[in-house]
Amino acid sequence: MDKIIIEGGVPLNGTIRISGAKNAALPLIAATLLCPGEHTLTNVPDLRDIRTMLTLLETLGVSYSWPEDHTLIINSDGVNNYEASYDLVKTMRASVLVLGPLLARLGRARVSLPGGCAIGARPINFHTKGLQVLGVTLELVEGYVDGSIDGRMQGGTIYFDIPSVTGTENMLMAACLAQGRTIIKNAAKEPEIGNLIDMLTVMGAKIRGRDSDCLTIDGVESLKPATTAIIPDRIETGTYIAAVGATGGKLELTHCNPRHLPSFLEKMRTVGIDIVEQKSSIIVSRPQDLRCVDVKTMPFPGFPTDLQAQIMALMICSHGLSVIDETIFENRFMHVAELQRMGADIRVDGGRAIVNGTGKLVGAPVMATDLRASASLVIAGLAAQGTTTVSRVYHLDRGYERLDEKLQQVGARIRREKE
Ligand code: EPU
Repeated sequence: MDKIIIEGGVPLNGTIRISGAKNAALPLIAATLLCPGEHTLTNVPDLRDIRTMLTLLETLGVSYSWPEDHTLIINSDGVNNYEASYDLVKTMRASVLVLGPLLARLGRARVSLPGGCAIGARPINFHTKGLQVLGVTLELVEGYVDGSIDGRMQGGTIYFDIPSVTGTENMLMAACLAQGRTIIKNAAKEPEIGNLIDMLTVMGAKIRGRDSDCLTIDGVESLKPATTAIIPDRIETGTYIAAVGATGGKLELTHCNPRHLPSFLEKMRTVGIDIVEQKSSIIVSRPQDLRCVDVKTMPFPGFPTDLQAQIMALMICSHGLSVIDETIFENRFMHVAELQRMGADIRVDGGRAIVNGTGKLVGAPVMATDLRASASLVIAGLAAQGTTTVSRVYHLDRGYERLDEKLQQVGARIRREKE
């Protein structure tokens, strides 16, 4: 197991290239199950979660190769197995994304229930309910969701109580091969869903309503393989913006999409960070002391829950009280206890954290609990006086491509060691 050691207090200066988005690549890889043939994905980040998804697809009969860095060729001619095992699903919840495509392609899917996780219970009842609307028979057998359908699924109207990102993605993939029209109401609108819709459209699917909360899918009989580029990772982009906000300095983030971060960039400007948006890059600097700000996580285009931990680290570096409301996941404050070990003054009351920014953090040994919590500890370590050691960084490697190397390139004193 690796740990990351940071000597804090160094401003970040230089250029960072943003990688492709993990949460876009995962559903697009799952979508290659929908039809036989050779699919090409470009700008795929090299991450642990991506490798886990590819291992899962291999067990289903898919083969793949990386002809060059970040380009993935997936051949799904041989899909013949419909079971996603507990061993793989328990390491990555996004494995549930194979449920819709397997049912559409094979008429059968047995996918382990993921169970709870570090940030909340995260049930998959919207996925199962939606598939039942499309005519799938589902049972829970020995911890597995076992679904089957004779022939094609039938279009229907699906309503989500809460917009669910992977729920919307699963329904889109299932519905594009169903018979007739499917309408998804209160659908999630995250940019990663737009990326999936673009891929499915090139594959021959008929989908209307991109970027809206009502998606209409007219099922087609067959699809064909496609070549698609993964969109830039908006959460990685936001993480580096928060980092330079915490340390000072000036960064140019290239190969990103500022339009995918509307509420986050607005908050960054409010706290006093200078943001210059260009078509596919952002120049970010901190010309003044940080102001405090209140934040409430919401589905897109609201403030992303995946940047909540990082803005908390930033707000510790401001002066004054910030109120952070987490509305998406019920247990996403695991980073608070670790930030407190570095001297942060934070009080948690249910889904609300009140941060008393003092502008001061002191290095300490801390432990990563989940992916985004790890990123907040790295930001805090970069801003702190002294040495911070972040252990269990395998969480970081799930979703940040070469984070320590990218930070080193812009002047951070950060290194990785074996524990
Ligand atoms: N929900 C249900 N039932 C369901 C599905 C969701 O009650 O069947 C609830 C969840 O418990 C949560 C809310 O609906 O309260 C929204 O959850 P959503 O389904 O949108 O989350 P997800 O699809 O499981 C994706 C990302 C997460 C990100 C969330 C929210 C992927 C692979 N994962 O998860 O990313 O936090 O959307 O934006 O796209 C991360 O990258 O660190 C990460 C956790």
